[in-house]
Amino acid sequence: MTLAELNHLFDPEQFRVSGHALIDLLAEQLTNQLNGDASLVKWQSPLEAEQAWRQPMPESPEFSNEEFITWLKQEVLPRNLSMHHPHSMAHQAAPPLPIAALCDLVAALSNQAMAVYETGPAATLIERQVIRWLNTAVGWPQGAGVLTSGGSQANLTALLAARQHMGANIWNKGMAATPRLRILTSEFSHYSIRRAAGIMGLGVEAVIAVAVDEQGRMLPQALKQAHEACAQNQEQVMAVVATAGCTPTGSIDPLQEIGEYCRTHGLWLHIDAAHGASALLSEQHRAKLHGMEMADSVTWDGHKLLYMPATVSAVLFRDEAASYSAFAQDASYLFHEEEDSEARGFNTSYRTLECTKRMMGLKLLAAFKLYGRQGMASLVEHAFTSAGYFANLVARTSGFTLLMHPQTNIVCFRYHGNSTLTSSSAMLNELQANIRKKLLHQEMFHLSQVNIGDNIWLRCTFMNPYTQQAHQEQLLKAVACMGDDLSANRKRAFPPFFCN
Ligand SMILES: Cc1ncc(COP(=O)(O)O)c(C=O)c1O
Repeated sequence: MTLAELNHLFDPEQFRVSGHALIDLLAEQLTNQLNGDASLVKWQSPLEAEQAWRQPMPESPEFSNEEFITWLKQEVLPRNLSMHHPHSMAHQAAPPLPIAALCDLVAALSNQAMAVYETGPAATLIERQVIRWLNTAVGWPQGAGVLTSGGSQANLTALLAARQHMGANIWNKGMAATPRLRILTSEFSHYSIRRAAGIMGLGVEAVIAVAVDEQGRMLPQALKQAHEACAQNQEQVMAVVATAGCTPTGSIDPLQEIGEYCRTHGLWLHIDAAHGASALLSEQHRAKLHGMEMADSVTWDGHKLLYMPATVSAVLFRDEAASYSAFAQDASYLFHEEEDSEARGFNTSYRTLECTKRMMGLKLLAAFKLYGRQGMASLVEHAFTSAGYFANLVARTSGFTLLMHPQTNIVCFRYHGNSTLTSSSAMLNELQANIRKKLLHQEMFHLSQVNIGDNIWLRCTFMNPYTQQAHQEQLLKAVACMGDDLSANRKRAFPPFFCN
């Protein structure tokens, strides 16, 4: 093929035309989602839905550019879960800021590989600036860190650094010569901590679950007992992982107390604040994270309460030198810096699992430049207030039980109706799961659920400022209506909000 024949693959004019059409389409979708006119989801079971998507790889073009945009409009976008819809309240995933989505477009077309400075000069400088801002918010103006594709990878990176920090140079020598290593973390910590232990060859059983109080916070006394038990068993604790904004309930561990314990006993403290760290931006909520600066490393997700499109997270280190501990690799085709050279910090892959990595910093930088710390804090404050309102509503509505008052923006609750409804705990569990399923399958609300002890709880994460009190009131009505219907085993087809 000649260049002339390949030209249309890169045609800038076609890019401009398609781009305008696409942005118009997305802006229309955004409007419809925010005001609740778009459908929340078009529910089909995955097996059923996939039938239409099993097609052979096209040998020759099937679509023109215009047809592709039409296909996106008709077939793809309507089948997405509408993240900006006020009824989307399941997980800690953000309805992203539109400007951040535009930045992702810039990142995609400019495709800065970012492994080393010269493969992404501006991208590197932007990332370093964002990392300085986040570190300063934690209280570490001299800290260091890197952006990662997600909090799971940030947690893994921090734990690798913690293990290397013990001095046994496991990176080079492997695990054979070390004592049995343990990680202490609350029973409510995210599964990525256990997964990291598996990846690191410690085995998931190396993660000791420390008990929490009735508010979902790690019990310092239980941490002490777990640590002492490890010592008695000749097991070495390589890290304590506290959680600031745990996944099931959004609870925040007592960071100051845990930090003091770790300092006294020379233990590496990692704080998984993937969810909660953004509260540092808010003067109103910052105190909830008091003690965070005592950690050695912190995970902070951008695609949660910083309202970024997935993925962007940060792993931050109090001590700059520790930020290089997770990975140590010779690669003459990339790395030319001396270990003590200041230039080393400009090559992101000294610090990351990834070699090629996306320009993730731009969208964060744009958000802070356009809206300032205060603007970003307002989003967090709105989310926390919204959760507080909903929790109070649940607490005063008969037939519902609130698990706990939210410390962040996650609210767990159950519907049990009146006492003549189902009463065994298995039946009540089944009821919660079925309510959730029905709300989704009937395309009304997207909630999540979580097992706490023996019970299943419905779980809402309030992220979207467009979720108003009226939507929350409608949700409770819909849950009660579904619950009563399911309990009475009636199969009544009802449109949303028409059941009393
Ligand atoms: C507390 C916590 N840590 C880590 C993670 C994992 O983050 P990611 O999904 O970005 O990998 C989550 C995800 O919900 C989380 O809630």
